[in-house]
Amino acid sequence: NTSLWSVEGRTPDAGRLRAAAELLKAGGTVAFPTETVYGLGADARSTPAVERIFEAKGRPSDNPLIVHIADRAELASLTLPLEPAGAGALAERLMDRFWPGPLTFVLPAKPGAVSPRVTAGLETVAVRMPAHPVALALIAQSGCPLAAPSANRSGRPSPTLASHVQGDLDGRIDGIVDGGAAGVGLESTVIEVVDGGTVRILRPGGVTAEALREAGAAVVYDAVAAPDGAADAGAVQAPRSPGMKYAHYAPQGQMQLVQGDPAAVTAWIGSSVREARAAGERTGVLAFAEHAAGYDADCVLVMGSLARLDTAAHGLYAALREFDARGVQRIWAETCPEQGIGHALMNRLAKAAGHAIVRV
Ligand code: TXA
Ligand code: MG
Repeated sequence: NTSLWSVEGRTPDAGRLRAAAELLKAGGTVAFPTETVYGLGADARSTPAVERIFEAKGRPSDNPLIVHIADRAELASLTLPLEPAGAGALAERLMDRFWPGPLTFVLPAKPGAVSPRVTAGLETVAVRMPAHPVALALIAQSGCPLAAPSANRSGRPSPTLASHVQGDLDGRIDGIVDGGAAGVGLESTVIEVVDGGTVRILRPGGVTAEALREAGAAVVYDAVAAPDGAADAGAVQAPRSPGMKYAHYAPQGQMQLVQGDPAAVTAWIGSSVREARAAGERTGVLAFAEHAAGYDADCVLVMGSLARLDTAAHGLYAALREFDARGVQRIWAETCPEQGIGHALMNRLAKAAGHAIVRV
């Protein structure tokens, strides 16, 4: 049976989190909100606890987990110093700037500090400090570094509401802390620090490349994480971040991205919808608010505004889940420029579509 606790997202009551923290201490699995998406947490030091995460999600065992901490001082117990020394200094500057926040660092793991199931046998460990009062309070109260992947069944869109977690994992995990809607709506940015001046983005996310550059870091990309790399299915063979190779975020319907001049996109999608409907299929369009009125399909969903891509990031996963709830079989989606959060948004859209992109 899965317990459910509702807490105030901004100022969670410690008493209300106590039972959840006790479950975590005892090796249980508890889902909780972060500023990106909901995570499914367990004590990162305990192999049986971490195994429960993999089992509940149906997650492939070669896909490592992010460890969440509430205090920078914990880093020293989880990781080894970064080489060369300049890289360590850059990592610290970026932590000063972006922690707590949606930036995950892949760092040399201290042997034995976390379960080998967390790192999937790699010599590195991914660590982040989430910027959500509920997540921070829960980590602190449990006293555990929490391994926490997104709290969805493997392959499904990440949950941005507690009800999404319930839909996927009710009965499979010990508890859910409902702290309202998650923030960004897309997962954290995963980086490696290459040297004293450069980071490599392994997964685009809540902290944009522009923000990293503003903080003084040069940015290079793993092939799967590059702008435009989103469209390149060939690049997904051997990503440095193992999770990037899995078909992910996918709705049950077949999805295609349509790129081009807005009027041409609307026309092309319109005729595709008519054809599919004539063939008896349930159709869906995922559009930006600016264009949504131009579509006629069984289910037209707005991910957010093209002028405010942060709103689209926030709404994407809920929209993908809504298509499933409405039994939509074919989905066409608009695209956006890969600037700012648009880069992470396009990366997730391309994955949801299995890299099916048509240029019109
Ligand atoms: O925003 C987030 O990061 C959310 C919230 C809950 O914190 N978590 C999340 O976790 O998205 P998950 O498990 O869905 O994605 C973790 C990503 C995967 O792509 C995984 O392969 C990568 O991080 N990763 C974890 N450890 C790694 C390591 N040692 N080296 C390279 N990539 C790693
Ligand atoms: Mg995930």
